[in-house]
Amino acid sequence: MVEKPLFDAYATLDSMTDFALSPLRAFPTGALQGAIDAPGDKSISHRALILAALSAGCSRITGLLTADDLMHTVGALRQCGVVITVDERHDYVVEGLGVSGLSEPSDVINLGNSGTAARLLMGVVAGHPMQVIFTGDESLRSRPMDRVAEPLVQMGALVKTTRDGGLPALISGASPPLPITYRPPVPSAQVKSAVLLAGLSAPGKTTVIESVPTRDHTERLLKVFGAQITVREKTGERHVTLKGQPELRAQNVVVPGDPSSAAFPLVAALITPNSKVLVRGVGMNERRIGLFQSLREMGAELEIIPKASLAGEPIADLTARTSQLRAVEVPAERAPSMIDEYPILAVAAACANGSTVMHGLGELRLKESDRLTAVVNGLNNCGVEAFVDGETLTVVGVGPNNVPIGAGTVVTHHDHRVAMAFLTLGLASQRPVVIDDGSMIASSYPGFVEDMTLLGATIERLA
Ligand code: S3P
Repeated sequence: MVEKPLFDAYATLDSMTDFALSPLRAFPTGALQGAIDAPGDKSISHRALILAALSAGCSRITGLLTADDLMHTVGALRQCGVVITVDERHDYVVEGLGVSGLSEPSDVINLGNSGTAARLLMGVVAGHPMQVIFTGDESLRSRPMDRVAEPLVQMGALVKTTRDGGLPALISGASPPLPITYRPPVPSAQVKSAVLLAGLSAPGKTTVIESVPTRDHTERLLKVFGAQITVREKTGERHVTLKGQPELRAQNVVVPGDPSSAAFPLVAALITPNSKVLVRGVGMNERRIGLFQSLREMGAELEIIPKASLAGEPIADLTARTSQLRAVEVPAERAPSMIDEYPILAVAAACANGSTVMHGLGELRLKESDRLTAVVNGLNNCGVEAFVDGETLTVVGVGPNNVPIGAGTVVTHHDHRVAMAFLTLGLASQRPVVIDDGSMIASSYPGFVEDMTLLGATIERLA
């Protein structure tokens, strides 16, 4: 472990720009109508940039999510010697350096708010003969990195996190890393991806065994870039095996739309009167669509029209219409397929008839904020009964002939998904909902307010 004071200079690097508050107010809305394109998928955008950087040749990424989180990954890769340009069509052009081809940055890498960037890039660096110090904003610095450090150390990297297992962290890569077989103790696509990305530089086969499957974008995209990767089911577990030291080849990748972002306008349409909203080009990876499954069980009128696949991922256009929702019980096994969607599901549940019970949510405490606490407090502030018992969240819906009172000021804890969920609640409430800070929305869905306004919502910036 490294003593915290050693890192103080780095930890405060961005403290001047951390969390300048930007409150927003969402007003009760009549019909939401119209069509929008889903913004690029955040998870796939990170992976496309990273794999393009590790490929031989020039890759072109169309539809990359141009949100703050991704700009941190672009910046980090540039610091490691990768040339990334944006052309006149807004495509990202990445001149790859090949597997193990990155160079040591001359400064600390600051990843802002992005947990995905931090964990995936720690895996990349673990497979390179170089030393990197990663840091991030206040939220990212408080999130656990030891879950990634542990397997990377097994692979031969040196990882020094803070005493609490967080950032800033120093990674000294292994040259080459050892191929390992690893069973993550918690279901995490980020941990799986970090091990596989380090495994790209290993002389042999790296295997990750998942007892609960998580999003498999890394596996799918590795295949697209030419890696040999196999997935086998054995006694109820998923074995992902990557052959190390492949020659990845540059690709043109079109990034699918993000189901986690599409969730907000779709739920907004379900819970506001006389609404019909189409979101085009949504990624429908089966490890990401637990929310849509849950909403349909709640009686949501959600039409799914399949489209041609992109980047090895299934795609659909989704239409949501105003629906009378009823409470459901969401099983713990579904959590990995909708891990980022609980704040907006809780909002849908607030407008449903009956008490919705969601199990297995312990990981929500470790996201951009403690989302369990943030959601319960936010709902309570808006006149909705909600409580947590262990890892189970219960939301008492106000029923079909009622709407939540709203009128609350919600503390977002600088969490983009909490911010968007409560603005959505404001559209369906009796009185407006204010969130203390909307600035973090830029980390995943910078066009959120504009898209919602286009559909007929009124969301106002407060001075
Ligand atoms: C992500 C995986 C999930 C998710 C995060 C993005 C990814 O985190 O919450 O927003 O891109 O791999 P975990 O892997 O920690 O569950």
